Amino acid sequence: MKINPFKLERFFGKYEFKAPYMLGSSDCESLSIKEILAFEPGAEKNFLKTNLGYTESEGLPLLREEIAKLYQKVDSSHIFCFAGAQEAIFIFMNILLKPGDHIIVQFPAYQSLYEVANSIGCEITEWPMLEDKNWELNLDFLEKNIKPNTKVIIVNTPNNPTGAHFSKEKWNKLIEIARSHNLILFSDEVYRFLELNPNDNLMAACDLYDKAISLGVMSKSFGLAGLRIGWIATQNDDILKRFKEFKDFTTICNSAPSEMLAMIALKNKDKILERNLSIVKSNLKLLDEFFLKYSNIFQWVRPKAGSIGFVRLLTGENSEKFCIDVVENCGVLLVPGTLFNYGSSHIRVGFGRKNLPVALKQLDLFLEKKYEK
Ligand SMILES: Cc1ncc(COP(=O)(O)O)c(C=O)c1O
Repeated sequence: MKINPFKLERFFGKYEFKAPYMLGSSDCESLSIKEILAFEPGAEKNFLKTNLGYTESEGLPLLREEIAKLYQKVDSSHIFCFAGAQEAIFIFMNILLKPGDHIIVQFPAYQSLYEVANSIGCEITEWPMLEDKNWELNLDFLEKNIKPNTKVIIVNTPNNPTGAHFSKEKWNKLIEIARSHNLILFSDEVYRFLELNPNDNLMAACDLYDKAISLGVMSKSFGLAGLRIGWIATQNDDILKRFKEFKDFTTICNSAPSEMLAMIALKNKDKILERNLSIVKSNLKLLDEFFLKYSNIFQWVRPKAGSIGFVRLLTGENSEKFCIDVVENCGVLLVPGTLFNYGSSHIRVGFGRKNLPVALKQLDLFLEKKYEK
């Protein structure tokens, strides 16, 4: 298999562990093992007894029960765990797509949501999010682009990189379109539970449609990327079976300590989500002020959900050059939109981390000098 490099990961590989200020990361503030174990009396003692043998391929049963509580119609037998969301995306495309199949993918997108399909030889239609309409999608575009060889619709809501989120009305219409054309819906929901307005919470795709696959992970809303625990939830037994067969050739099973920690974290999900949502909300206020101050340099569409937003650089500079200038001169890491194959005038900003105020101050000082404000 030949696959193009993952542009974002290569860029992060160069700067992520060198730059002192992360202002482009997509995940929320993390927790230590100690903090997770402190959620429950006796958890530390039990954790130290964790056996380090192979585990069940599907994922620890008690963990899958906790994951199932995030859904309404799927139970733990319809949850299957992976090493992060990334492994699930890779397997999904390998089991359900063949050369010549057509997919329609919400765009801009996290690269693997189309790149794995591209490497398989699929035909890809990018379903454009409309920046001048708060990054909304046009459902007529979707309907018009469904063809006899269309196999899958791929969406990601709350969205990386734009911070957009489907309205309930559009979400239900999307499900109806997928159902009426008998298409598989792959719904990347890794930023779920970070909706700024609780009225914007959506039912998971897997609860609404039996040919939908919902993708979840501990990395983003829960801030626990180091656990490498992700999962799919689907009512579809046939799809589930094929996922299981493929995982035997990738990771076989998950890491036992990670499963234990993920289970404890999910039992205490309300506390973790409340903390992360409050970080996101207070950071967003600072970003609103920042982008108001620099409204001649950036155009900001305020995200509806998630921990990332996509701003337009109005100066005409190339976003990659701009971000490299920023990271090399003031240590603040932003993510250029070029890494999303999305022109050269956008920048992804992440606001799930506690030290955003410090990072933003550094950027402010740098920009004041650069543009002599
Ligand atoms: C939309 C989306 N899906 C999937 C992933 C992969 O998640 P993980 O790194 O936990 O495998 C990411 C990571 O950035 C993402 O943004």
